[in-house]
Amino acid sequence: MAEQNLKKVDFFKYQFFINKKTFVPRPETEILVEVFVDYFKNYLYSPIREKFVSVVDVGTGSGCIIISIFKEVEKILKAFEIRHIFVGIDIDKDVLKLANYNSKVIGANIHFVCGDLLSPIRRANFIVSNPPYVSLKVKDKIKVDDPTHTIFGGEIGCEKILEIIKQASFILSPGGFIFLEVGYDDLKFFGLSELGKIYKEKIFSLSERMKFKVFPPIKDYNKIERVVVMQKT
Ligand SMILES: C[S@@+](CC[C@H](N)C(=O)[O-])C[C@H]1O[C@@H](n2cnc3c(N)ncnc32)[C@H](O)[C@@H]1O
Repeated sequence: MAEQNLKKVDFFKYQFFINKKTFVPRPETEILVEVFVDYFKNYLYSPIREKFVSVVDVGTGSGCIIISIFKEVEKILKAFEIRHIFVGIDIDKDVLKLANYNSKVIGANIHFVCGDLLSPIRRANFIVSNPPYVSLKVKDKIKVDDPTHTIFGGEIGCEKILEIIKQASFILSPGGFIFLEVGYDDLKFFGLSELGKIYKEKIFSLSERMKFKVFPPIKDYNKIERVVVMQKT
């Protein structure tokens, strides 16, 4: 890959190559990685861990999330002789070439697959995602350079998140986890607090209906709720 045509961005402990088609990794997503790694390590040190573990990143973009997670846990997986597969999915096959390149440069063993949300996956123990989650209602109020399909989740914003939760309920093994970056609290900065409440309510009520246990949301550097974790009961 011709590195001179690419931009390098810092994310977590690494540098990732991106181009104009790739979503630029954001600092708040490092919280998603940290939360995931905490839960995952607890699982690996617990007696309920399985001999084979699968981790799926939905909407992988540059691969920054799944690659960072892999690097944090690869030594423990090896020490405990846990077989594993790490998969990054994206709807855009061009960004997957870049994700693949980043994983080779950083030294992570990830399978990148093109597909719509979780459609390529039959079974998983852990699902992580920073999906497009911004409401189209703020489209004219924000200026971003990232491609539109990487940002907006629908009229409310949570539409892709809800679809991931529905699909995950069929795919996750019992006791499996979902880690999601969410944007309902951002809406209050646009005078859309009511829409934010609907967005949050939709996520929590669907999770309950799908029999997920939802953990207290984790806040970001601006003290707003940014990461939601749920477990299949
Ligand atoms: C907010 S970006 C996150 C990228 C990267 N994970 C990160 O955190 O920097 C959302 C990503 O989801 C991808 N995406 C959008 N719709 C999708 C779909 N239906 N199925 C799979 N991926 C999708 C976009 O191409 C984009 O790479």
